[in-house]
Amino acid sequence: MSDNNVELTSTISEDNKLELALREIEIPQPGENQVVIRVEAAPINPSDQGVMFSAADMTTAEQSGSADRPVISADVPAKFMGAVKNRVGKAIPVGNEGAGTVVAAGSSDAAQSLMGKTVAFFGGGSYRKYLCANVQSCLELEPGTTAEEGASSFVNPLTALSMVETMRAEGHKAIVHAAAASNLGQMLNRICLADGIDLVNIVRKQEQEDLLRNQGAKYVVNSSKDSFMADLTQALVDTGATIAFDPIGGGRMASDILTCMEAAVSRDITEYRVYGSDVYKQVYIYGALDRGPITLNRNFGFAWGVNGFLLFNALGKLGKETNVAMRKRVAAEIKTTFASHYTHEVSLAGALQLDTISAYGKMATGEKYLIKPQS
Ligand SMILES: NC(=O)c1ccc[n+]([C@@H]2O[C@H](COP(=O)([O-])OP(=O)(O)OC[C@H]3O[C@@H](n4cnc5c(N)ncnc54)[C@H](OP(=O)(O)O)[C@@H]3O)[C@@H](O)[C@H]2O)c1
Repeated sequence: MSDNNVELTSTISEDNKLELALREIEIPQPGENQVVIRVEAAPINPSDQGVMFSAADMTTAEQSGSADRPVISADVPAKFMGAVKNRVGKAIPVGNEGAGTVVAAGSSDAAQSLMGKTVAFFGGGSYRKYLCANVQSCLELEPGTTAEEGASSFVNPLTALSMVETMRAEGHKAIVHAAAASNLGQMLNRICLADGIDLVNIVRKQEQEDLLRNQGAKYVVNSSKDSFMADLTQALVDTGATIAFDPIGGGRMASDILTCMEAAVSRDITEYRVYGSDVYKQVYIYGALDRGPITLNRNFGFAWGVNGFLLFNALGKLGKETNVAMRKRVAAEIKTTFASHYTHEVSLAGALQLDTISAYGKMATGEKYLIKPQS
């Protein structure tokens, strides 16, 4: 291959500095069960930004370097250095997923069968030109699917599907979802509509209510309205939802959901119960959109849980058969149920511009960036 390879890395140094940069690396050679992918598209998801910016204060960010090799540096507050000590001095490759063309394959049948195909892949620092991946972390895209269409085949689609499977596995019958107008939330809405599952969408803006209702959502409640708690309780009475997924994390969203669940399940109970209802209520926190402390105002009895939720752990619990079925569904429905829309496309160097960083750093509804490493 007469090309070069470049990757985007994030490094925190001992002198409390974060540095984002592009560095030249070798084009990899595939092992027996591996393929080399020419990466053509990779999304910038909130989880990628967690690795990229880590604990840095991005209001202090400065840009240096050249046009094709920009360097971003920012201060990491001293109080956070302990939390990031295991990555100090290491150039961490960024990017959880992407898609592209297989340009070299190892000797195994599975690897050879992917040669020349367009695949989506997961892991390994996808913000680079060429990436070596195990065949198990690749998803062959159907003919006619482009790398751009398949770039977000893993993180959001499989997380949304895992939420539905977790609901089933844990014996709940409907779902509550917070920050529900997100890219993932819109996918979850489409899955639930297709599968006949009631979904209570919590949003914080009128335009997000409109967006989801226009996409067929039946239950949408707005946390900015005075009537939020009453509206949420009514939606929970109507649906019987006792499991929730919250990517906000900080603040009182989990608490409010549990409070309304308790009110909904107790609505027709007239007897006095010291410990509240015995209906188990579950909130899974699966993101850190608000990094502040989680506040639980404990007025929802004792039958409840607030736990973390991570895609890898959920996939492990759900088992191989479910995993295979979920991947197949993603490949078949990547242009419909699992479609992601990107508002901006940038090169690797374009992702390291101060104004671009502050735009995708907002993680705003409908604003998704796609990196095109070959451009
Ligand atoms: N645990 C896992 O395994 C896993 C896997 C996949 C995704 N995730 C998480 O899922 C979340 C959604 O990802 P995505 O790619 O779909 O994001 P996205 O499309 O960028 O959307 C983010 C959404 O969050 C809202 N938001 C941002 N900050 C908020 C806050 N403080 N309070 C309430 N809403 C807020 C935004 O609304 P506004 O426009 O109003 O700001 C927007 O609707 C992320 O937190 C991500 O980390 C977790």
